[in-house]
Formats: sequence, structure tokens, C-alpha cells
Amino acid sequence: MDFETPPTDPMPQCQLWFDEARQKCTVPNTHAMALSTVDAQGRPSCRMVLLKGFDARGPVFYTNSESRKGDELAGNPNVSLLFFWDELERQIRIEGLVELVSADEADAYFASRPRGSQIGAWASDQSRAGATAAGMKERVAAFESQFDGQEVPRPPHWLGYRVVPRSIEFWQGGAYRLHQRVVYEVDERGEWKTQRLWP
Ligand SMILES: Cc1cc2nc3c(=O)[nH]c(=O)nc-3n(C[C@H](O)[C@H](O)[C@H](O)COP(=O)(O)O)c2cc1C
Repeated sequence: MDFETPPTDPMPQCQLWFDEARQKCTVPNTHAMALSTVDAQGRPSCRMVLLKGFDARGPVFYTNSESRKGDELAGNPNVSLLFFWDELERQIRIEGLVELVSADEADAYFASRPRGSQIGAWASDQSRAGATAAGMKERVAAFESQFDGQEVPRPPHWLGYRVVPRSIEFWQGGAYRLHQRVVYEVDERGEWKTQRLWP
């Protein structure tokens, strides 16, 4: 990335870094990102999720809307995402508001998942207390028999969330802490404005 004359649109640059991370890093899950949400008291919480879609509209992840993050997102759509690739000395921070992806888009993605993951989505009461190995096995077996011989439909609580970015920062590590940073922010006309930041 040319930090002296950054591209006007940060989205293709994000795609480029996602692609390079996938091609060059030796670790798995280069599409994993930390997702921070806030609860009704303004207390933040953070967990990893997987990037499952990306285009000019923003990054997409999927989760159980009845989970802790789902509850927090329903009350406050402000989120922060963080990607970090140690081997490339790169970080991307994205801040914005979540919106739900369309039912058609979520259905199409759900249909592409392995059957075991589809059953798992039905079987898990994500973030609820009281999980046991036996309880999980029992619920998996119950849904396997419920959907025996048919396609597994998407659970109504299993939703896709798109983060519509308000701000995107690219960070490239450099020698002697002379890292390079550029932040993109959407201005009042909806256009991207860039600023170089001291490291
Ligand atoms: C590498 C990695 C990827 C994950 N990807 C997802 C994901 O895409 N969706 C999801 O719901 N949980 C994912 N999880 C699990 C979450 O981190 C978290 O445990 C779960 O979603 C419950 O979070 P909550 O209680 O804050 O809602 C992932 C965990 C790891 C370590």
C-alpha cells in the first residue's frame, strides 16, 4: 500500500490485504476478526468471528441473534472490527454500524455450509448457560432426526450482519516503531476522507 498517496477508496485495499493474508500467512483463519460490541450500559465485549463476505458495502459475519453479541447488536448497532496478521505486520480496524443481510443472502450462505455445521446452528443455544457434552449430543441427535432426509433450513435466529463502515484504518508495521497508518472516514457528503496518523 502506498501510504504517501493512499487510494481514494479503502474497500479494494481491504480486499487486497485479505487476499494477501490468505496467500502469504502460514496460519489458518486469516479471515478471523475480533468483533467488539457494547451493552446497554456502554460496557464493551469482544470475541472472534469469521469474515464470510466482503464487498463495497462492507464486511459480513454470521451468528446466532439470540447470543450475547446478538442481544447487544439489537440494542446498539455500533461495532468495531479488528484484523491482525502478525506475519505481515498488518492491522485493519473497521468501525461502523451493523445492518442485517437479506434473508436470501443468509439462506444462500447457510446452504453452502457443511450439514454438520447446519445442524450445529440449530443445536446450539449460543451464549446460554448450562452446556454439557451430553446435552449437546442429545440436541444434535434430535435435530438430525428432525431434518432426516431433507435439507436443513436456516434457523430463524441465525443471521448475517453487515458492518457498514464509518471508519477504516490501515496499519503497516515498520522498523524502530516507525509504523505507517492511514485512516479513512466518511464525511458528511458520504465520501471517504483520509488522514495520515503518527504511529
Ligand atoms: C477463530 C474463531 C472464529 C469464530 N467465528 C465465529 C463466527 O463466525 N460466528 C460466531 O457466532 N461465533 C464465532 N466464534 C465464537 C465466538 O468467538 C464466540 O465464542 C461466540 O460467538 C459467542 O459469543 P457471544 O457470547 O459474545 O455472543 C469464533 C471463535 C473463534 C476463536
